[in-house]
Amino acid sequence: MTDTIIIGADHGGFYLKEEVKGILAGLGFQVTDTGADVYDPDDDYPEFASKVAASVSSGVFTKGIIICGSGVGASITANKFSGVRAGLCHDSYSAHQGVEHDDMNILCLGARVVGIEVAKELIGAFVRASFTGEERHIRRLGKLIDIERQCLQNDT
Ligand code: RB5
Repeated sequence: MTDTIIIGADHGGFYLKEEVKGILAGLGFQVTDTGADVYDPDDDYPEFASKVAASVSSGVFTKGIIICGSGVGASITANKFSGVRAGLCHDSYSAHQGVEHDDMNILCLGARVVGIEVAKELIGAFVRASFTGEERHIRRLGKLIDIERQCLQNDT
């Protein structure tokens, strides 16, 4: 289990992000908040999602949470970073199974979709879960890494 979780949100997720800090503290985690620092209806989700994703991609943090209005923009942005496996989860099964099977390292939430109590359950499931390390899951992750490498090569 990681000690510090990195979080970020645009205006769509700003107020839920503020609540998430308390949720994570209650679960015994330190929190690094990449913003938004204030509610700004004109801010843009790629800015905040990319800060969280870059920190997870570089290995500075092992788990992150990104919140926007739907969670969709957050997940699209985050999955552009190598080594990031972000999942948009609004049910607790996916929130833990995504870690156990797919080594999901960023949880994306939609603040316009889930309320605080559901968010609490989703976050609890995500942070408590760990990758099983089973051969079939490692094999599948290996295939993902191959795809990522191929895409990088095609870009150059
Ligand atoms: C912002 O209004 C909203 O579009 C954004 O938070 C997010 O839902 C995008 O996926």
